[in-house]
Amino acid sequence: MAREKRTILITGGAGFIGSHLVRHWLRNHPQDIVLNLDALTYAGNLANTEDFKGYVNYHFVQGSITDEHLINQLFERYQFNWVFNLAAESHVDRSIHDPLSFVQTNVLGTTVLLQACVRHWSLSDQNTPSKKHLFYQISTDEVYGSLSAGAYFTEASNYAPNSPYSATKAAADHLVRSYYNTYNLPVVISNCSNNFGPFQFPEKLIPLMVLNAVEEKKLPVYGDGRQMRDWLFVTEHCQAIDVIAHKGKLGETYLVGGKNEYHNIDLVNLIAEIIDEKLERKKGTTAALIEFVRDRPGHDLRYAIDASKIERELGFSPSQNFEVKLKETVDWYLANSQWTKDVISGEYRRFYQLNYGTN
Ligand code: NAD
Ligand code: DAU
Repeated sequence: MAREKRTILITGGAGFIGSHLVRHWLRNHPQDIVLNLDALTYAGNLANTEDFKGYVNYHFVQGSITDEHLINQLFERYQFNWVFNLAAESHVDRSIHDPLSFVQTNVLGTTVLLQACVRHWSLSDQNTPSKKHLFYQISTDEVYGSLSAGAYFTEASNYAPNSPYSATKAAADHLVRSYYNTYNLPVVISNCSNNFGPFQFPEKLIPLMVLNAVEEKKLPVYGDGRQMRDWLFVTEHCQAIDVIAHKGKLGETYLVGGKNEYHNIDLVNLIAEIIDEKLERKKGTTAALIEFVRDRPGHDLRYAIDASKIERELGFSPSQNFEVKLKETVDWYLANSQWTKDVISGEYRRFYQLNYGTN
């Protein structure tokens, strides 16, 4: 069967997951045209998209999803079939210092995109098997709040966001759902656990610990480090998004997880061991840099995903070995010190000082 040819809008495609999704799409769907729209905030970096230059079906526009005029122009010009919304302010600690920018992009920006879809798509013929149009919201498991031991998030879990970041992502999910019910907009939402891999901005736990360890700086573990996260290698998230876009049911939510639950302190110790090994340090040298610091306000204790719906209905389950992928990720950061130097700008240093009280 001939492959459907589509024009795809990926927002936030110069960020961490977005750049992996663009790469995934260009490699796996060469018949499609891909437009990457990214505002290039501190987290967006064209170095993440260097290897896309050779693709004639790839386009980049710098701009914000909050810019209604620009969004309407792009919809008119490109006639998008599918929209993947990844553009977001994504870091919980930053949302504590500056919630408004999260509301702007995550809530208002998402609504601007939804409005453009309603305006530019004919919404009467949406339930065709080919999914002529699709609005795909990339969301987070953090919208469900915090779990006690032994419990798992499912698609039926109640929304209970605890940080300004997760509250804005929850609001966006609700808006997306409301556009499905009110305007018949063809939508799908996935809520994923913690991603890791190359090109992740070093404000997030894994790259921050790797880079601090390399520089022999303190490894700041929040609170007692007993919080738990479920880790998924970023390319597996992209595969899941692809499967959900093609096979998922309109109006549905799918949870995506890695089946890799770690207490933060155990993960930081594991990273320290890997660094000792790679940099030929005496065993225990890097772990000695661990420092327990003031806890994150509203810190969620545990996230864990029951991913049986996507497994059962769409046949997707993660297959990568966590420790293997973690070592590969550490190797990537060790081999790409120029990338790191470039992203650790004055702005990053200001944030580090604000959040950790030290440089
Ligand atoms: P990121 O911070 O690395 O990248 C975000 C990108 O969005 C950046 O390139 C930035 O320039 C761009 N952006 C920000 N505001 C914009 C705006 N107004 N208009 C256009 N572009 C804008 O984030 P990430 O970790 O890659 O996360 C991507 C998406 O996936 C987010 O929606 C996030 O909520 C979601 N998510 C992330 C994770 C994770 O573990 N990182 C897990 C689940 C879901
Ligand atoms: O669960 C999905 C979410 O995962 C995404 O929606 C978010 O965009 C993404 O940032 C991530 O949120 P977390 O808050 O879980 O990730 P982060 O890497 O910031 O922190 C992971 C855990 O490590 C968390 O419990 C806080 C802790 N931590 C983090 C940092 C940066 C520390 O102990 N010390 C640190 O310096």
